[in-house]
Formats: sequence, structure tokens, C-alpha cells
Amino acid sequence: MELGVSGTLFLAVVLSLVLYFFTWKRNLKMKNMPPGPPPLPLLGTLLHMNTKELHTSLMKLSETYGPVFTIYMSKVPAVVLVGQDCIKEALIDNGDVFSMRGHLELSNLFTKGCGVIFTNGERWKQMRRFSITTLRNFGMGKRGIEERIQEEARYLTEEIGKIGGAPFDPTHRLNLAVANVICSVVFGERFDYEDVKLRELLTLIKKIMQLMTSIWGLLLNVFPKIFTYVPGPHQKIFSYVEKLKKFILESLESHKVTIDPNCPRDFIDCFLIKMEEEKSNPKSEFHSDNLFGTVMDLFVAGSDTTSTTLRYGLLYLLKYPDVQSKIQEEIDNVIGQNRCPSVEDRVQMPYTDAVIHDILRFADITPMGIPHATGQDITFRGYHIPKDTLVFPMLTSILKDPKSFKNPEQFDPTNFLNDDCSFRKNEAFVPFSLGKRSCIGEGLARMELFLFLTTILQRFNLKPVVDPEKIEISPQPNTSGTIPRTYQMYVTPR
Ligand code: HEM
Repeated sequence: MELGVSGTLFLAVVLSLVLYFFTWKRNLKMKNMPPGPPPLPLLGTLLHMNTKELHTSLMKLSETYGPVFTIYMSKVPAVVLVGQDCIKEALIDNGDVFSMRGHLELSNLFTKGCGVIFTNGERWKQMRRFSITTLRNFGMGKRGIEERIQEEARYLTEEIGKIGGAPFDPTHRLNLAVANVICSVVFGERFDYEDVKLRELLTLIKKIMQLMTSIWGLLLNVFPKIFTYVPGPHQKIFSYVEKLKKFILESLESHKVTIDPNCPRDFIDCFLIKMEEEKSNPKSEFHSDNLFGTVMDLFVAGSDTTSTTLRYGLLYLLKYPDVQSKIQEEIDNVIGQNRCPSVEDRVQMPYTDAVIHDILRFADITPMGIPHATGQDITFRGYHIPKDTLVFPMLTSILKDPKSFKNPEQFDPTNFLNDDCSFRKNEAFVPFSLGKRSCIGEGLARMELFLFLTTILQRFNLKPVVDPEKIEISPQPNTSGTIPRTYQMYVTPR
């Protein structure tokens, strides 16, 4: 039988593909990587994953492949870790190996590989240590962080009071309040809620996040050399980042003029003082690129996370008015109406503390954490995981584990209460992750959640606009759990 040129060519292509496929699969097996769904050339294991609800589909896959398995994004492998024992064994017992971040091209493009979130090695250690120390309450001169949050909580309740009894969506006001706390900590100033600068800042962060997590952002990250020049919506990321940079640089310049080294006002002052101290060290990590990168990280990691958690929190309180009343009872007993709440009150308010813990647990806003990577080859649970492999620690598998929480799929503050109503710690409370890379803003975020919620509930009763039974508290579908459904509420003064 005569095949002809095109027939021969076709056969050659098919044969090469088959050969490529089998050699590739054999290579994978030889590597003794953790098991996983069979990958296809180019597609990897994409057909086994729902990219819009990635964490749900990965949890499903773990039912078949166990607590350690491998997925492939095209030909790039990522190891998924499920369950408290397995994640602890990796992030804590083998923390030195599992605490790296994978290479992220976007971070190079925007922050020149500087800052905290996406750095490694000495740079990461120094930026992380400095940020943690500075974010502690005593880090900045006379005005501590608690006082800044209390001030913002007052402005927020004033703003809510102005609405009267009309229904409103709390999203925007919560975003403004939380962003203002970071502005106060980083720039030393808060802005009026109508301020054009604050609104522009929030819009920029939101748009950058939206584009970075879109398919265009993904393509730019994977193929930066091509997609930097290909037209498309992702091109806007560059101009947005430039605007954000301009905003931060302007503030930097004015700080340099007004700084008093004996009395740092904010994060930028503290950083500038450190830069001055280390100016004769050519290897110092305290330079303007790291200052810019770290400030960007604080905004990106610290604004949306906290305001989304607050938004989930208010929604749960609308759904469960009895929980709201119990918090108010505690507020009346411990704080009263004549002074503002302070962090010291928290130890005397175990019920409120338990509610905030279960808001963080149940909202589960980073179900897959932030991806880690291995810093060297490792044999983990009998499998070989090579250096530079991406690792997804599935925090959701700990936060929703029926072995640790009696009603994991329901909002239930008794998860954190003893029978005598005292606060009960739980090892499985890991919304801020665990190990060397855990969230550096945990203290700040928990302070904000406590002070914002108690200040609001001290002044107002929160009311739903529909029957509480009908309120849907599960996340918006196809958002990987990160976004609550839109809702309206109204308040009445107490
Ligand atoms: C409810 C609020 C928050 C939640 C649930 C949250 C959660 C997380 C999680 C899960 C991680 C990943 C840890 C890992 O890789 O293992 C993380 C990292 C981080 N968070 Fe938060 N976070 C919150 C608020 C904040 C705030 C307020 C800030 C700072 C102002 C902040 C700054 C950071 C930074 C800089 C990192 C990277 C740490 C590193 O790579 O060493 N976060 N956060």
C-alpha cells in the first residue's frame, strides 16, 4: 500500500508522539515521584482538575491517591500535601527543605525579586525578620498598632452610622478601613474614606490582583519573554504597577525629608533608619528595592485577606443572630458602652475569641495556602521529591478535618470552647499556615478582627434583609472559596 508523502509524515508524527509519551511516562516512574493521575503531554493533569475550584478537585484526588500526590501543570510537577500529619511533617519536621518559594516570573517583573512573599535565602530571612519585629505593637514610636486600629474602627462605625437604617453592602467600607490600617502602619497616615488617593490605591490593588490571577496573568507568568510584548488585557498590569510604585515612591521621598531617627512614625521610617545603619555594608539587603517590595507585599497580603474574613464574619453573624447576641452580652459585661474595646479585653472574652477563631477556620480563605517549593532533593514518605518542586499544602484539609472539629462543615464557635465556656485551643487551627513561612501578619490580622468586630457590635445590632434561614454562607461558586456571596445588611443603634 502506497502511503504518499503526507501519509508518511502523519505516521511519523503519530509515532513520535507515542514514543515521546511512553518515554516521558517511563521517566516519571523512574523518578519515584509521589503517585497521581496520569499526565498527558502538554496538558499535564489538567483534565483531572477544575481550575476554578482547584482545592475541591485536589481534595477529591487525594481520596484516590492518598495524602501525598503529584499533579502536572503542563510538564511542571507540583506535589500536593493533604492532612495535618503530612503537612506538619513537611512544613515543620522538614521545614528547612519545604520552606522555599518557587520561581515566580511576575514577582521579578514587578518587585525585581525583592520583598518577603516570593523571596528565598538571606534576603527572605532578613526581610521577614525585620517585618515581623516592626509589625509588633511596640515597633513604631509612640503610636502603637493597636491605637491605629482603634482609631480606624471608630471611623468605620461613624461611617456605618451615617447610613442610618438603610440596607447596604459592607464590602467597600470594610476594604477602605482595612487598607487604611495598612496605610497608617506603612505610611503613617490614614485617609478619609472619600479620599481620591485611597480609592485609587484600592482600585489599583484590586485590578492588579484580578489580572494576575486571570488566564492572561498566568500566561505572562509562564511565558514572560513572549507575553510582555503580546497585546492583551495583561498589558495594563504594567501601568497599574507603575502607578502603585509612584504612590509608594512619593511617600518615600516625603519620609526622607521629615524623618526623625529617634522617633520612627511608621514602617517606612523604620526601614529608612535600618538603611542608614547599614549604608557602609555593600551586601546589605536594606535598600530601596527591598523597601518597595516589602511594602507592596504588606498591601497585597494584608488588605484583601483581612477584609474578606471580616465580610464573611458579618455574614455569619447575620445568619446566626444568637451568636451575635452572645458577643454583645460579653461586650456589655467586659467593656460596657463608655470606652472603646482594646486587645487586653480579649482574654476576658472567650466566646468572642472562639467566634473569631471559627470565622477564620470556616471561611478558609486560602484553602491551598501560598505554594511552597523544595530547596533540595528529599525522600518524603518513601517518595522522591526533587529540588525546586512546587508544593501545595492543603490548609483546608486541616481546617475542615472531622478528626479535629466536631462540625467541620458548619460555622460553630463551640469548636473552640470547653464545656465550662472557657477558650479551647486547637492544634488544627492553621488559617495562617504553619512553620517557617507562616503568615507574618497573623498578630495584626487577629487584632483587626477583634477590634473591628467588637467596636461594630458595641454600637450596632446587625440585621439581615432576608430571613436568616435563607442566607447562603458558602463561598461564591468558582472562586476557590476566596469570595463570599454578595449580601446586603442594615444596622440599628443599640
Ligand atoms: C485574615 C487575614 C490573613 C490570613 C488568613 C493570612 C493567611 C496567610 C497564609 C495562609 C500565608 C501563607 C503561609 C505559607 O506560605 O505557608 C500568608 C503569608 C503571608 N502573609 Fe498573611 N494572612 C492574613 C493577613 C495578613 C496581613 C494583615 C499581613 C501583613 C500586613 C500579611 C502578610 C503576609 C506575608 C508577608 C506573607 C508571606 C510570608 C513569607 O513568605 O515568609 N498577612 N498569610
